Amino acid sequence: MKLVNRPRRLRNGAQLRSMVRETRISADTLIYPMFVQEGENICEEIESMPGQYRWSLDRVDELLEKVLQSGVKSILLFGIPDHKDEIGSSAWDPNGIIQKAVHYIKKRYPQLYIITDVCMCEYTSHGHCGILCGRDVDNDKTLEVLAKIALSHVQAGADMVAPSDMMDGRVRRIREILDKNQYTNVPIMSYSAKYASAFYGPFRTAAGSAPAFGDRKSYQMDPHNGREALLEAKLDLQEGADILMVKPGMAYLDVLQSLKQQFYQPVALYSVSGEYAMIKAASMAGYVDEAALVCESAVCMYRAGADLLITYYAMELAKYIQEGRIG
Ligand code: PBG
Repeated sequence: MKLVNRPRRLRNGAQLRSMVRETRISADTLIYPMFVQEGENICEEIESMPGQYRWSLDRVDELLEKVLQSGVKSILLFGIPDHKDEIGSSAWDPNGIIQKAVHYIKKRYPQLYIITDVCMCEYTSHGHCGILCGRDVDNDKTLEVLAKIALSHVQAGADMVAPSDMMDGRVRRIREILDKNQYTNVPIMSYSAKYASAFYGPFRTAAGSAPAFGDRKSYQMDPHNGREALLEAKLDLQEGADILMVKPGMAYLDVLQSLKQQFYQPVALYSVSGEYAMIKAASMAGYVDEAALVCESAVCMYRAGADLLITYYAMELAKYIQEGRIG
């Protein structure tokens, strides 16, 4: 057979395949999301996310040593407070769980880059991501609170803030308050295209943040919409976002790719709790090869355009990269 083009030629052997690889992955771009909880001597496995835990600050060293050893250099912090109320007041308390955690981790592990999730749902008694007006979340009232929360995180030592509430105008308000307080160099990673997704189910169990009534569809995006993500990203950039994020991951790679093509800023992808839980459950049942699935899905996320990947499998991935399983 006289064939001029034989794509198989470049697939011949691991060495050649790795030479012509289009996607390169580095542990520098992995972000590990973790949960810190008020209290003592807590290292409690999250039922909906086997292998992930809630940590009190007196035990969190056990986890952080592992994170650093794995080669992961950045964490995304979520807090589980003792006290919840209508307005989520413990979210901006200088003595709140996140503020204490950031302070502690920054002092002990200065080499770790700390990003904090800025939202209210873990702190409000009703579980919504803002201040309620009747049964609806009041956008503009919520902005003031989000700004206060973000500032308190940065004052505690956070390197970057990541607002996940999906209120309109939050990036502008947060940028304003940070700049006014001389934090002009602290970047904002905006959850720009955050969809109203069932993939967050296991997280809500983990953080006790499920809404007490209704859902989040009046602020998080409709999964039917792709172009709207470009609008959200454009607005966030106009308001001063430094990094854009798409969330969830796996089922939303088209959205990631279109943001990557349209804009110049780095784009992060959040592979969320439901994605973790699905792979974990299937592998515990013996239906799939966990490591192979984790590697392949991460590679696909980077191939689709992720500059940064937020994943509960960050430590495993760092290990797989080191072992040359992917890269
Ligand atoms: C807070 C927040 C959520 C997640 C990240 N930040 C939950 C939600 O919006 O309901 C989900 C993360 C995950 O599922 O891993 N608003």
